[in-house]
Amino acid sequence: MAEKSFKYVILGGGVAAGYAAREFAKQGVKPGELAIISKEAVAPYERPALSKAYLFPEGTARLPGFHVCVGSGGERLLPEWYSEKGIELILSTEIVKADLAAKTLVSAAGQIFKYQSLIIATGSTVIRLSDFGVQGADAKNIFYLREIDDADKLVEAIKAKKNGKAVIVGGGYIGLELSAALRINNLDVTMVYPEPWCMPRLFTAGIAAFYEGYYANKGVKIIKGTVAVGFNADSNGEVKEVKLKDGRVLEADIVVVGVGGRPLITLFKGQVEEEKGGIKTDAFFKTSIPDVYAVGDVATFPLKLYNDIRRVEHVDHARKSAEQAVKAIKSNEDGKTIDVYDYLPFFYSRSFDLSWQFYGDNVGDAVLFGDNDPASPKPKFGSYWIKDGKVVGAFLEGGSPDENKAIAKVAKVQPSVDNLDLLTKEGLSFACKI
Ligand code: FDA
Ligand code: NAD
Repeated sequence: MAEKSFKYVILGGGVAAGYAAREFAKQGVKPGELAIISKEAVAPYERPALSKAYLFPEGTARLPGFHVCVGSGGERLLPEWYSEKGIELILSTEIVKADLAAKTLVSAAGQIFKYQSLIIATGSTVIRLSDFGVQGADAKNIFYLREIDDADKLVEAIKAKKNGKAVIVGGGYIGLELSAALRINNLDVTMVYPEPWCMPRLFTAGIAAFYEGYYANKGVKIIKGTVAVGFNADSNGEVKEVKLKDGRVLEADIVVVGVGGRPLITLFKGQVEEEKGGIKTDAFFKTSIPDVYAVGDVATFPLKLYNDIRRVEHVDHARKSAEQAVKAIKSNEDGKTIDVYDYLPFFYSRSFDLSWQFYGDNVGDAVLFGDNDPASPKPKFGSYWIKDGKVVGAFLEGGSPDENKAIAKVAKVQPSVDNLDLLTKEGLSFACKI
């Protein structure tokens, strides 16, 4: 097989890759200079759609509808866009070996790719229950969700198991979004997670109580404080029961597991500096190896606002880090400099009729404000996190675009507060006046 050589290679064809390609095009990349190598069979798309409208029975999202960059209100980059720009999309191609010293990548089929600059955008993979030896975890109809192929398999199962029983293992992002999606598909849904409340990485007990109440009103059953320890299958190998650590056994036609992600960096082990489970970068997403950049889920980068180094597994950072890396590469070539990455963390989720946004850092004391009654016709509530007398994080459920902008501003400006009772009373109006 002929060796292929490019000035720039983006390894991975997800969110960060798509936004990087758009930035390369803006910066005048020449035909033939850039390639994206992806193990997925489709051009970069907005991954968040997979756990939301992709699974809905109505208003279903399908490609080419959600190729990047529609998720941030940008131009939709269809496969033709890449060919028009002379950007080579090398799809269904898994890289199995990377030699950063020799600037060489090798695919599963043995194809060799050379580059002058590499952007690592391999994202995350799912943590599997079989990783910690859960018995029977390879039964049919136990699903994980990361890529479009996974979503397609789940869609098939939802059709095949109409009105059946679903068990969702995990109470994080996937757990909450998938429980809602399967419930909307009229499955009988039970969630199981080990913590005392859902989404403990971000939610306070007060925030979680709202979502748990709302989900219960929608008919989702929630079992907390235990984990799945095994699965029983029928004679076809299809999952039938989920065995819990507390001894309970749940019937299941479909199981969806969302017990966390792991950045995909094994190809580069021992070749590049790592930190906090990711590839260590500077504020331009440059790694410890010359001409090698890392963006999106895999990058552990300096978060200037908190004088800390962090890894962020969310789409907004995937987009922005990709753009920053490309700007850095191009400005370097022109002997220019650009500003350091100054990121305000932004996470969001949507399920049922709900929609929340979070900006900043969820550290320090938290206060809860607003109408957080799960039975309200239009619930709107939020939280502020206060550290060292300053508001450093803000969460809002049911906010309008302007209100969401206001909480983003609060998290960025970090206004001082000395009376938390007053802040609770003021609630959203505190953010709106900043
Ligand atoms: P991403 O995972 O998008 O892309 C990585 C790409 O690299 C994939 O195409 C993969 O196949 C490819 N790849 C990996 N190894 C390879 C190899 N060896 N050879 C070739 N190709 C390889 N965030 C958020 O803020 N709000 C949200 O609502 C959601 N919703 C959401 C839903 C679901 C189902 C998931 C899985 C994730 C989210 N996220 C999210 C998280 C968000 O999607 C995630 O942070 C970004 O997609 C990260 O972008 P990357 O480009 O880093 O990885
Ligand atoms: P997560 O880290 O959000 O949640 C994992 C959950 O599983 C936690 O509640 C955890 O304690 C629980 N858990 C761990 N071990 C368990 C076990 N043995 N049994 C039952 N529960 C267990 O991870 P996720 O929900 O799997 O999401 C995977 C990735 O996808 C993350 O990077 C996430 O950021 C991303 N994602 C983001 C969004 C969003 O931002 N809206 C949506 C979907 C996915």
